[in-house]
Amino acid sequence: MQEGPVSREIIVARDLVKHYNGRAVVDGISFQVYRGECFGLLGPNGAGKTTTVKMVYGLSPISAGELTVLGLHAGSQSREIRKHLGVVSQDNNLDPDLTVWENMEMFARYYGLRPAHIAARLRQLLDLMDLSSAAHARVETLSGGMKRRLAIARSLINNPQLLILDEPTTGLDPQARHLLWQQLREIKEQKITILLTTHYLEEATKLCDRLVIMDRGRILEEGEPSALVAKHVGPQVLELGLKEDPPAWQEALTGRFAHLLKGSWLLGDTLYLYTDGGNRLLQELQELAPPCHYHLLRAATLEDVFLKLTGKELAPADVEA
Ligand SMILES: Nc1ncnc2c1ncn2[C@@H]1O[C@H](COP(=O)(O)OP(=O)(O)O)[C@@H](O)[C@H]1O
Ligand SMILES: [Mg+2]
Repeated sequence: MQEGPVSREIIVARDLVKHYNGRAVVDGISFQVYRGECFGLLGPNGAGKTTTVKMVYGLSPISAGELTVLGLHAGSQSREIRKHLGVVSQDNNLDPDLTVWENMEMFARYYGLRPAHIAARLRQLLDLMDLSSAAHARVETLSGGMKRRLAIARSLINNPQLLILDEPTTGLDPQARHLLWQQLREIKEQKITILLTTHYLEEATKLCDRLVIMDRGRILEEGEPSALVAKHVGPQVLELGLKEDPPAWQEALTGRFAHLLKGSWLLGDTLYLYTDGGNRLLQELQELAPPCHYHLLRAATLEDVFLKLTGKELAPADVEA
């Protein structure tokens, strides 16, 4: 098959660095985003995710390294790059006094859409994001979820080749978050390339084809979510909430059940046992009867990968300050 006019790489970052006040908040990261995929930057607050995407959309100059977006140089050609981008920043940047329709219309004019085409395009996008019935509502009357959906609808006006979503569901309640995931999957089906940042592992698992795990300005791992889980922690995790002497129990259990374990991690009094034979492990464990507040056998997730790589937890999935 013939390659399209633009190459497969939509973003290429090599040894990318951003300094603030002499401190590297993005500290030499390299990654590539391919056409049509949803690529995630997953990491806790302060990891450098927003700084990275700001360099991609030209809001923040790079300190060192190389960054090309759509084959263009992110520093000197950022104006040209921005024509082909849709950007949804963490703070929606909507005009609260205008209606949904007026917010969209303003953007359409800014991007120079032909007046005759504007109404049809706006109706199509509002329909896509389930906002048609709110078209004439003022933005300040909308819920957080609707505002976010409007920001996404607006970012698609110029038919972007790359859509950047910075923490798309942060601050939303769980129901609004699930609804938005569904809509983002619909956008994904249109084969638009997406660069998404998140500190929600569930979001990363559900939406990203590939991702990097970031912490303190560095990339710790890269791959498909399920492949990362398989590589680092295996299919299952047995969690034990130990009542006494957790380090001693960790030693005892990992020694005794080495044949069933891929590894273990102790965080406070919770022991995580990574395994591919969870039921058997649970059965054999009964002989030793470690004193536990609880035990839980569950599928391994990206959270376990993150825990193993960094020794700390990511934010819980549903609670947002
Ligand atoms: N404009 C800025 N000036 C100084 N420090 C900044 C600035 N923007 C971000 N930082 C710092 O850079 C680090 C990474 O921030 P950020 O990219 O926003 O992380 P994330 O989006 O992953 O939460 C943080 O320690 C933050 O305080
Ligand atoms: Mg951020």
